[in-house]
Amino acid sequence: MVASHLTLAVLWAGSLTLGAAAQSAQLAATPPMGWNSWNHFAEKVTDADVRAAADAMVATGMRDAGYVYVNVDDTWEGERDAAGNIRSNSRFPDMKALADYVHARGLKFGIYSSPGPKTCAGFEGSYGHEEQDARTYAAWGVDFLKYDLCGLRDVIGRQNLQDDRAKSSAMIREAYEKMHQALVRGGRPIVYSLCEYGADSVWEWGTAVGGNLWRTTDDISDSFRSMALIGFSQAGLERYAKPGHWNDPDMLEIGNGGMNADEYRTQMSLWAMLAAPLLAGNDLSRMDETTKSILMNKEVIAIDQDTLGVQGSRQGPLQVWVRPLANGAKAVALFNFVTDDVPQPITLRLKDVGYRGLVHARDLWEHKDLGMLKDSITVTPPKGGVVMLRLWQ
Ligand code: GLA
Repeated sequence: MVASHLTLAVLWAGSLTLGAAAQSAQLAATPPMGWNSWNHFAEKVTDADVRAAADAMVATGMRDAGYVYVNVDDTWEGERDAAGNIRSNSRFPDMKALADYVHARGLKFGIYSSPGPKTCAGFEGSYGHEEQDARTYAAWGVDFLKYDLCGLRDVIGRQNLQDDRAKSSAMIREAYEKMHQALVRGGRPIVYSLCEYGADSVWEWGTAVGGNLWRTTDDISDSFRSMALIGFSQAGLERYAKPGHWNDPDMLEIGNGGMNADEYRTQMSLWAMLAAPLLAGNDLSRMDETTKSILMNKEVIAIDQDTLGVQGSRQGPLQVWVRPLANGAKAVALFNFVTDDVPQPITLRLKDVGYRGLVHARDLWEHKDLGMLKDSITVTPPKGGVVMLRLWQ
C-alpha cells in the first residue's frame, strides 16, 4: 500500500515536471525575438531607456515584425531589503510598473540575474535567494530571465574548485537547475536564458536544466571580426537546437555603428540560418532606414522563425550554409568571408543541396524571384556580405 502510494506520488511529480517542461518548450517554440539593453546602453541603462525601447518597438513596426521581448540586462539591481527581497536601484524606480508599461504595449518583459552572489557588473546576484527572486520576478510580471554565470566563478574560486573540472561543472549545472526549479515553482511561464558563455558544452545539458536558449560563446562586440568569428564557429552545434531549446550565439549588433550594411546583413542572415534568438541590441528609438530594413526583413525573419526548427549547417569548406525549412523548402546563404577586397563568385550546385530538376529561387535581400534554376547558381556576394536565397520545388 505504502509502496503504491509512493509510486503514485512519484508518477504525479513526474507528470508535473513533464507538464512544466512541455509548457516551457512551448514558450520558445521558435527562437525568441526581442531587444536587450546591454549592447548599446550597457551599465548606463535606465527605466526611461527601456520605456523608450518599448515605445519604439511598437512605433517602428519591430513588434509587428515579431520582436516581442523587452529585456533589461545587468545593472538594474539594488540592495536586498531586510527580508532578503531583491530591489531595483534608483535608475529603476518600480519594476512592476515598468513590466506593466511593457505589457500594455503588447510586449513581454525580460530581466537579468546571476547564480553567483554578484553579477558580471558587480551588482546583486541570486546566490542563496533563488526561490525568493523567482517569486519576485513572477510578482513583477517577468517573462524572460537571462541567468549569467559570472559571480558563481568567484564561489568556485573560493572553494578552490577552479581546477577540478568535474566539481566545478557540477556546481554550474546545479546552479542552473536550482533556478529552473525555482522558476517552475514561481508559477509564471518565464523563458529561461542560460548565459555561461558555452562552458562545459552547455548545449548537451541546457535542455535538461530547463534552458530555452543557451549562449554558446563569449560576448559579441560590434565588429565584423567578433561577429564573424562567433557566427561562423557555430558549425557543428546544429543537432542540439530544436523547438523550445536554441543555441544562442549572442545578441545582434545591427545598428550600433561598428559594421557596414553588408556586414550587418551577414549577421542577420547568419543568425537566421542558425535558428538563433534575434535580440536586437541597438537604440531602437534612433534607427536609420538601413537598420530598419535589415532588422525588419520579414523574409529573413521567416527563415529564423521557421516552424520546423532545424538549425542550418555549413556545406563544405566555403561559407555556404543550408537550412531545411517546413514544407520541404530550403534556405541557402552564401557569404563572402574572404578578407581581400575583390568579391569572389560562389557557385552552388543544386544537387549538392539535395535537388534534382528545376528549382524555384527567391533572393531574400533583393526581395526578388529569380525564376527557375537548373543545375546551379553562381552569385558574387559583396565583401563581408551575403546572398540569401529561398529554394523550393
Ligand atoms: C556578461 C554577459 C553579457 C552581459 C554582461 C552584463 O558579460 O555575457 O551578455 O549580460 O555580462 O554584465
